[in-house]
Amino acid sequence: MAFKIGLLGLGTVGTGTVEILLDPAQRHPLLRELEIYRVGVRSLDKPRSVALPTSLFTTDLESIVTDPNVDIVVEVIGGLEPARSLILKAIAHGKHVVTANKAAIARFGEEIFDAASEAGVYVLLEAAVGGGIPVIEPLKQSLCSNRIHTVTGIINGTTNYILTRMQLEGADFADVLADAQRLGYAEADPTADLDGFDAADKIAILASLAFGGRIKLSEVHCEGIRQVSAADIAYAEKLGFVIKLLAVARRTPQASPEEPEQLQIRVHPTLVPKAHPLASVNDVYNAILIEGEPVGQVMFFGRGAGSGPTASAVVADILNIAALLKVERGGVTRSDGTPLLDPLLACSHQHYCAIAPMDELITRFYARFITNDTPGVIGKLGTSFGNHNVSLESVVQTDVRGDRAEIVVVTHDVREGNFRKALDEIHAMEAVSSVASTLRVL
Ligand code: HSE
Repeated sequence: MAFKIGLLGLGTVGTGTVEILLDPAQRHPLLRELEIYRVGVRSLDKPRSVALPTSLFTTDLESIVTDPNVDIVVEVIGGLEPARSLILKAIAHGKHVVTANKAAIARFGEEIFDAASEAGVYVLLEAAVGGGIPVIEPLKQSLCSNRIHTVTGIINGTTNYILTRMQLEGADFADVLADAQRLGYAEADPTADLDGFDAADKIAILASLAFGGRIKLSEVHCEGIRQVSAADIAYAEKLGFVIKLLAVARRTPQASPEEPEQLQIRVHPTLVPKAHPLASVNDVYNAILIEGEPVGQVMFFGRGAGSGPTASAVVADILNIAALLKVERGGVTRSDGTPLLDPLLACSHQHYCAIAPMDELITRFYARFITNDTPGVIGKLGTSFGNHNVSLESVVQTDVRGDRAEIVVVTHDVREGNFRKALDEIHAMEAVSSVASTLRVL
C-alpha cells in the first residue's frame, strides 16, 4: 500500500520535492511506495514545470490536512501563517508532518511538538536548517551518544555570499547587496537574512537538539552584518582573519557541577582565524561544526538553500516516516494499538534551557577607533581597558588622515560586560571621535 503525501506548496522547494518523487530510479526503493496524493497551491492557473495531473491540485489547503487518506503532510509554503495552523490541524488529524519551516518551528515549536507527541505523530524538519546538509538527523541520532559542547555554524547563505564578495572584491556592503539582489541571491526584502534573524531561528533549532531543551527565540542574541564595513574586512585580513556571520550555541563552563547549567546562544559577525575550518566556507555555502565528547569535532558542509538541496532533505524526512509506517503497519504498535514513536526521531523536550546573559560571555574582541592623532591617545585607550580588566593582545595604529588616526585593537579573552564598560568610557574621551566598530573574535 502506498504512503499518501499531501503537499502544501509548489514553489521552489515543493517543485524540487515533486521532481525527486516522480523520478525514483537509482534512489531508495521505498520512494516507489510514495504517492503524491494532493497538492495545495495558491493559484490553479499558474503554469507548473512538473508533470502532475491537474486533478491533484487544490487551493483549499485545509482539505488536504484533514483528508483521511493522507498519511504525511509536507509543508513547504513557509512563513508563519497559515503554515502554523495547517501543521497543527494536520497533527490533530493524525498526520505525520515534514516541514522546511524554520521560522514557524523556532517560534511555535513548543505548541507543535506538544501536539505531535499527544497525537503520536512525527514532525520532521531536516530541511529547516542547512538546506541539503544533513544536520538535524545526525544531532538526533548519529551523534546522540555524545555530550555536545558547541555548535558553530555558517547557516545563512545570503550573508555568507555578501561577506565573501566583500572580502574578495574589497567592496562595500551596500554595493554587494544591490548586486546580490539583482542576481537573485538576496530577497527583495532581505531583513531576515541581513539582520541575523534567519540564522537565529536556525541556531535555536540546532541548540534545542544539541542540548536537549527548548530555546526561547527572544533569548537568542542577534546581530546582523549591516555594520560590517570594507575597512573592517581589510583590517581583519591583515590580522589573519576573515569575517563570517556565525551562529553559536555553547554550554557555558560550570565552576562546579552544582551550578545550574547555562547556554550561550548568539548570532553575530565574527573574526574567524584563517586556519579555522569555517574560514574557508564561502559564497552561498553553509557549514556546521559540532564539538562533542567523545566524538571531537565533526563538520557538515553543503548547500544551505535552493530547490534541489532543500528537497533532498524534505524527501529524506518523508522516507524516514514512510519507513517507520511500514514497520508499524507490519505490526509494531503498543498493546493498545496506538503507534509507538521512535524516541530518537520524536521530540522529547519538556524544559527550556537557561541562557547566559551576553555580559557574561568570555570572548576576544576586535575594535576600531577613530581618534585625534595626538600624543597619548593609545595610552589612554590602554589605561581604560586595563582599568576594566580587559587585556589587549594587539594595538595597531594603521592609518592617519590629516589629524585623524585609526586605531585597531584585539583583546585577549575578556568578559563582555567589562569590555562594554571600557568602551563606554572610551566613547566619552575627548580624543576619541568614534568607536567605528566592535566585533567578536573566535
Ligand atoms: N534565506 C536563507 C539563506 C535560505 O540565505 O541561507 C533559506 O533558509
